[in-house]
Formats: sequence, C-alpha cells, structure tokens
Amino acid sequence: MIEKLQTLISKEKLAQRVSEIASEIERDYQGKDIHFICVLKGGVVFMADLARAVHQNVYLHFMDVSSYGDSTESSGNIKILMDLDESIKDKHVIIVEDIIDSGRTLSVLKKVLLSRGPASLRICTLLDKPDRRVAQVDIDYTGFKIPDEFVVGCGLDYAQKYRNLDYIGILSFEEE
Ligand code: IMP
Ligand code: MG
Repeated sequence: MIEKLQTLISKEKLAQRVSEIASEIERDYQGKDIHFICVLKGGVVFMADLARAVHQNVYLHFMDVSSYGDSTESSGNIKILMDLDESIKDKHVIIVEDIIDSGRTLSVLKKVLLSRGPASLRICTLLDKPDRRVAQVDIDYTGFKIPDEFVVGCGLDYAQKYRNLDYIGILSFEEE
C-alpha cells in the first residue's frame, strides 16, 4: 500500500488560526496565569505553537492517558499513564488537544481534572471532528472543524509517523 497525503489545512492557515485563538485566550485571561495541560503525544506541537503566541505567563504541563478496554474505539474509561507533577488546585487550566473525535477521552479527563479543584478548566483543540462524537464535550476554543477523514500532521500521527508535518493532511492508501 502507498500512503497518500492531500493537504487539508495549510501551514499558513494553521499559523493564522493559532494567533487568533491566542488572542481570544489573552482576552479571556487578562492578568491571570494560565496553565496549559498537553495530552501527549498529539497535543505537543499545537501547544508549543499556541504557548508562544500567548503574550502572558503560560505554564506548561503534560499528561499521558490511554483508554481502557477495546483497542479500536476508545472506551469511556481512561488510564493515566503519566500524571501531572504539580497540583492544579486554584489554577486556571486549559487542556490543549490535537483533535476531539469520539470525545470519550476528553469527557472523562475533564471530570478527573475538575475533581482536583482548579479555579477554572477549559478545553482547547486544534481540530474537531463533530460527526464522530459519542460523548458530549464542551469545547471552549476550536481551531478547525473538519470532516470525518483520517488526518495527520501538526502532532497527529499514523503509527507514530507524520507528527512533524507542518500542515494537516488527509491520509489515504492506494494499491501499489
Ligand atoms: P477520542 O475523542 O476519545 O475519540 O480520542 C481522540 C484521539 O484519537 C485523538 O487525541 C487522537 O490521538 C486520535 N485520533 C482521532 N482522530 C484522528 C485522526 O484523524 N488522525 C490521527 N489521530 C486521530
Ligand atoms: Mg490526542
């Protein structure tokens, strides 16, 4: 099989949208310290871009989670593979994700983090695939709503490949 990539969102459009979201965040968090939580690994590229576009104190945190149970569809239960190394109590937290698909991971993660008593908790995602939603998630900042296609780049992978593409591409497969 040959892997084929077709550009869905260009590097220029990504940069433009990142700076728009950063402005929205600056407007919403005036005078406050912001704590980003990156969900590894997919969120790391978007978080790095977004954090540099926000011109006030942003602290960076990392978590790694996986869903329990069956492997193809994420289940409603998550396992924390790597937890935060600091308390988020009374802090203004934004979860930064690459994509929200079924919404299962984020809906559970949000509940887990809310139980730790942050001052506020919001969700920011680069991509949203609303057609695939199974679990309801309130998203506060969305980069782009996309159709139900498998995409890679800007943190998103296929078998760990393509995370470093500087655009979002639709991945498809053709016979050799
Ligand atoms: P969900 O919202 O719980 O279904 O989980 C979303 C996760 O599935 C994302 O964080 C990605 O890791 C992965 N994912 C969903 N759609 C895609 C895609 O189109 N390309 C690459 N990874 C995807
Ligand atoms: Mg992810």
